[in-house]
Amino acid sequence: MRRDLQRRRMIILILLFIAAFLLYRLSLPSPQKPSVMLPRKSGLLAEDSHFLLNGIPYRILGGSMHYFRVPVPFWRDRMRKMKACGINTLTTYVPWNLHEPRKGKFDFSKDLDISEFLSIAGEMGLWVILRPGPYICAEWDLGGLPSWLLRDKDMKLRTTYKGFTEATEAYFDELIPRVAKYQYSNGGPIIAVQVENEYGSYAKDTNYMEFIKNALVERDIVELLLTSDNKDGINSGHLEGVLATVNFQKFEPALFSYLSSIQSKKPVMVMEFWTGWFDYWGGKHHIFDVDEMMSTVSEVLNRGASINLYMFHGGTNFGFMNGALHFHEYLPDITSYDYDAPLTEAGDYTSKYFKLRELFGVYNAEKPLPPVPSLTLKASYGAVDLKRCLPLWEVLHLAGEPFKSAEPINMENLPVNDGNGQSYGYTLYETTIYGGGKFHTKGNVRDRAQVFANSQSVGTVDYKKEEVHIPEVPAFRKLAILVENCGRVNYGPKIDNQRKGLVGDVYLRGKPLRNFKTYSLEMNSTFMSSINEVHWSDLSECKTGPTFYQGALNVEGSPTDTFLRMKSWKKGVVFVNGKNLGRYWDIGPQETLFIPGPWLWPGVNEITIFEEYEAGQTLFTVDTPILGKTQYVE
Ligand SMILES: *[C@@H]1O[C@H](CO)[C@@H](O)[C@H](O)[C@H]1NC(C)=O
Repeated sequence: MRRDLQRRRMIILILLFIAAFLLYRLSLPSPQKPSVMLPRKSGLLAEDSHFLLNGIPYRILGGSMHYFRVPVPFWRDRMRKMKACGINTLTTYVPWNLHEPRKGKFDFSKDLDISEFLSIAGEMGLWVILRPGPYICAEWDLGGLPSWLLRDKDMKLRTTYKGFTEATEAYFDELIPRVAKYQYSNGGPIIAVQVENEYGSYAKDTNYMEFIKNALVERDIVELLLTSDNKDGINSGHLEGVLATVNFQKFEPALFSYLSSIQSKKPVMVMEFWTGWFDYWGGKHHIFDVDEMMSTVSEVLNRGASINLYMFHGGTNFGFMNGALHFHEYLPDITSYDYDAPLTEAGDYTSKYFKLRELFGVYNAEKPLPPVPSLTLKASYGAVDLKRCLPLWEVLHLAGEPFKSAEPINMENLPVNDGNGQSYGYTLYETTIYGGGKFHTKGNVRDRAQVFANSQSVGTVDYKKEEVHIPEVPAFRKLAILVENCGRVNYGPKIDNQRKGLVGDVYLRGKPLRNFKTYSLEMNSTFMSSINEVHWSDLSECKTGPTFYQGALNVEGSPTDTFLRMKSWKKGVVFVNGKNLGRYWDIGPQETLFIPGPWLWPGVNEITIFEEYEAGQTLFTVDTPILGKTQYVE
């Protein structure tokens, strides 16, 4: 009897336990959509005029979002917003320069945790098209290539030059096994992988694309391969056995017919439909009309094609990561990568979002679409209380021993960072001069520099202004040239010529200057925390010239996103709690810098500004971004 009772109690306990567990499981959000749960037979196939995924016709309704432009705490939120808009496939590039900042030293942690990003996408029920480069364009410094490649004076980027292929293979040895795990056939979300990026517009080496393709396949990339090209490159970008796709903003019937002429009975895909456009310093904030966007998206879908929206959510070029264009003129991109995309830089909805949602609601197999997540709060925290200042000249010793050389050395070839050179930021070249006269750059300053005689600014030189006059003084003086790398070109033939700093001789009275002391001012986190250890001055004690300013941003309660208004500040860089928010410049168009809420903490937050010319009167935060005067994309 007793034993029976015990057994019965035991059984009841076990049943209760099982019930509790089941209830708990049910209460969790289902990790994957039912379609994802079906047994997997075959991944994405392009063997007919439409795609098949697991044997079922599949139309790609894609959206681009780059994990490296969006802080980790936002990844889920942005993906949830994609799902709610009817996006079924997420597309991202992979930035080599961030993942391998020094040759052989890899970083896949925190904001660069691509495994985490892919696994969240899978969890959210988004398929992924991965675009691992190694060149990615993306309005990113050197199109994502690490600057240490440029230490080799014979380097030929994006070719089968040995120095490039060996570096690519070593990088892929690290990257590809991490992502291969997340392929469809391994139970992950990756359904396709892109081979390089718009190589047709460059096409210097006929063996190169085959090399990249093999480098992927040899490392167990088994899902569908594709190439993507714009109209300039479509003729020479595609590869045998790899699906060609196109990029455009305005519908181009000719591109569609070209695609069917080179690959009949294949699905048509627009890999990059540009929902907006990027901005450059000195220009206006580009916008692309929502109705025009919608009519092109409808046209593409009506024709039965697949589409990926580039960008769905642009994010931010934090730090010094912006790229540049240089055709007739050098034009560095701004910090914001808002792109006038369906989600703003800070992840907010736009009218594009809601119109797309209506349309994608019809085409997406998932019905109804998930509800639209609630808005994320933005705050205005009022004024930043500026407290102290520190002239650049007082902290040069914290940048390490200066490098001495007779001739100027470009930043990539400086003997810093364990033989990897300097990648980003500023480089200061110092020498001694006697007297004054005409200082001329002969085009060797990349990209702009402020020139100082005994710490007094005598002017700024750049691509357009190559000459400044140094006032005549019959004495020896220190000449300092503070050169800024404003961002390496990411597209076009000039990508072959992107060494920064002083890339050749600069002249005084027609004679090349010699005997330099060179300081690497990367303004990395080591340097930025070391400047907190020295004595700072009262605000009244700092004159004009390159100076750090520091102040406190007070946040009551739990922090939310905000925007720093740089009104009346001239040019420089802002750091929040040691994180580099990016550059500002009074030539616009951008007037505010995005501060992600997760980078703030309750209470006092430290704002450090490196201002090159003259501090602004005030500094404050606002709850709405100002991206500047607008202009429709041509
Ligand atoms: C930071 O920059 C300095 C030069 O300013 C350099 O010597 C140092 O190696 C850099 N540190 C890291 C961790 O990159």
